[in-house]
Amino acid sequence: MLSCTSIIHGANQRDTIAPEFVLTAFIFMTEPLARYQARIETALSCVLPPAGERLADAMRYATLGGGKRLRAALLYATADDFGVPPDSVDAAACAVEAIHAYSLIHDDLPAMDDDDLRRGRPSTHRAFDEATAILAGDALNTLAFALLANSPLPPATRLAQIQTLADAAGWAGMIGGQMGDMAATGKTLTLPQLQAIHRGKTGALIRAALPAADYAAHAATLDELGEHLGIAYQIADDILDATANSATLGKTAGKDAAQGKNTYPALLGLEESRAIFAEHSARAQAAATRLPNGAPHLCALLARIIHRSH
Ligand code: IPE
Ligand code: IPE
Ligand code: MG
Ligand code: MG
Ligand code: MG
Repeated sequence: MLSCTSIIHGANQRDTIAPEFVLTAFIFMTEPLARYQARIETALSCVLPPAGERLADAMRYATLGGGKRLRAALLYATADDFGVPPDSVDAAACAVEAIHAYSLIHDDLPAMDDDDLRRGRPSTHRAFDEATAILAGDALNTLAFALLANSPLPPATRLAQIQTLADAAGWAGMIGGQMGDMAATGKTLTLPQLQAIHRGKTGALIRAALPAADYAAHAATLDELGEHLGIAYQIADDILDATANSATLGKTAGKDAAQGKNTYPALLGLEESRAIFAEHSARAQAAATRLPNGAPHLCALLARIIHRSH
């Protein structure tokens, strides 16, 4: 890839936000988040196969031009807080967004959540066809690991990143969580069982976007942050499904209840779900403030994520 990085403007630009101004940083985050989003958009466009072939078109359709890019933003914000140049994070940011995009393509398929709307437009199998959508997802999955394998980072770092992403995306992570979600649809779970599904299907990839191994002295804190943010993120997704509308979400609202999905609101009601969400969010924020200099970029990004409306 990463000849690609040379075309990204301001490749090594970093913000300096004083740690004591975390609240101010929340307001200023609009700018860094926009910069992270622009950077990942450009990088993804570079690393995806060029438009023109049906498979490439479907991969680009599913990956570009939508999405909040919060997983990539977590990588860039952590890099900013640890003084790491963003160009050394591009491959990992693209990889995690590629896996995420593939997971969404497959999640929307008729065999899974059967959802026709994603990121405000027809889901990939509706815009193309099911076979193309399945294969585009598969190709994004393998692309993610190729990006990590071919990045300019030292071999040991690349290997560690590949291991982390494989664990997070695989049977014990995202795919395992998706399997649990599907198997439990229409059944009643206990809270620990539901939490295990959320930790897998959504939490694992978010955790992998906070690459603890790269910041070894703070691995435990980053892991704690990722654990709580990952669960909070899916609880918010569940709450939004039950409370927001399709236009705001860019995906079909109210589907979880209609399909008998196991969600926090279904199991515990909205009020209790919000309380548990607040608890996990607070624990993620508390972990961030224990990082060097209070991790202002991560803190500001967390505030944005926690208060998201879609
Ligand atoms: C949606 O994730 C699916 C979940 C894992 C909760 P996002 O809400 O991050 O989706 P995009 O990338 O912004 O579309
Ligand atoms: C999906 O969870 C998590 C993934 C791994 C894709 P959902 O099924 O709740 O995600 P949405 O609501 O369709 O985005
Ligand atoms: Mg699903
Ligand atoms: Mg879904
Ligand atoms: Mg959902």
